[in-house]
Amino acid sequence: MDEESPVVMVSFTFDGVTYRGRAGIPAGIALYALGVKRLGESEVDGSPRGLYCLIGQCFECRVLADGEVRRACLLPISEGLTLASLKVDPPLPTNPGRSAYD
Ligand code: FES
Repeated sequence: MDEESPVVMVSFTFDGVTYRGRAGIPAGIALYALGVKRLGESEVDGSPRGLYCLIGQCFECRVLADGEVRRACLLPISEGLTLASLKVDPPLPTNPGRSAYD
């Protein structure tokens, strides 16, 4: 985007709440700027997850975007985008030394 381009604001939702942000800004950054830091929960213990690496490597920022799991730090916001936090209900059992799938 060059400096001559007009700023385009779009509406999007996260967990049912409508927000507005600049089109093309990564969803995780837009939400963080709007005060939303918790994007989901750990599959292991339900602890909060959010932005961490900001470069698409850690997958801590995963959200549901129009029903698909996406990384919020890489996903540009657009008009009507529907985001939801990833929730685990109940959290997977933890048992040191065993896989959750044993
Ligand atoms: S913050 Fe690490 S992949 Fe998005």
